[in-house]
Amino acid sequence: MSQLTIDDATHVLVLTGAGVSAESGIPTFRGAGGLWEGYPIEDVASPRGFREHPALVWRFYSQRREGARVCEPNAGHRALVELERRLGDRFLLATQNVDGLHRRAGSDRLVEMHGCLYRSRCTVCVRPAFDDHQVYAEGVLPSCDRCAERGRSAMLRPDIVWFGEMLDPADLARIDAFVRNGRGERLVFLAAGTSGVVYPAAGMVDMARAAGAETWLVNAEAADNVSRFEHFVQGPSGRVLPSLLGIGLDVPLMLR
Ligand code: OAD
Repeated sequence: MSQLTIDDATHVLVLTGAGVSAESGIPTFRGAGGLWEGYPIEDVASPRGFREHPALVWRFYSQRREGARVCEPNAGHRALVELERRLGDRFLLATQNVDGLHRRAGSDRLVEMHGCLYRSRCTVCVRPAFDDHQVYAEGVLPSCDRCAERGRSAMLRPDIVWFGEMLDPADLARIDAFVRNGRGERLVFLAAGTSGVVYPAAGMVDMARAAGAETWLVNAEAADNVSRFEHFVQGPSGRVLPSLLGIGLDVPLMLR
């Protein structure tokens, strides 16, 4: 395996996708056995789907809440926590995952680009998204208690970025600022467990390259955008990340 060297001036931007949680038992979206085989994306992950079948959408996300809460972070998640501990503000983790496992593992400098399974928000009022671990019974359409206090009825929705929706500009700005800060110093972009088909995440490799980053992909198979990475390490992230980063092997992260 090529060696990734991270010295004491290296800035590391990590992008993760569903493959990073696969070894924790959470299904990925695409491919055999993927979530999108059983559920049409447009029905459960779009504003139109929610307007037309809110009960189906809430059943889907309630089942995912229930499924993910019994899963534990794996060695890949933990290797990224250790890397953050060593790099501090020279580290940023952008994840497309909504399962909360990076946070549960201990990642702190974290951007949840696609939202979080364990938060909900009101479809009407401007109250910020709030923690919601509730698994709603089939057919229940949860409503906003703040709106109810004002005599209004308003449905809650999962705090997930659906297809056709904008990512939070503050999240994109944070990633952008991190890359800009790394200019002139050594910048590494490391993507793991993502098929490279969903934008803007799939385009982060181009943004990082334009800023002079060295680019690495760790994935079980060649991602759609693999040709835009300089290095591709094929394999399960729970094994590859600790070894690539020299973590959990009783050898220090290569500091030069
Ligand atoms: P995908 O399901 O599209 O891709 C997961 C990738 O992980 C695939 O390329 C697999 O080969 C790879 N993989 C599987 N197991 C792995 C393992 N143990 N180690 C390393 N790689 C592994 O998931 P994402 O790329 O995350 O959006 O999908 C992007 C977005 O599309 C998701 O955030 C979701 C989805 O529709 C929303 O729901 C808004």
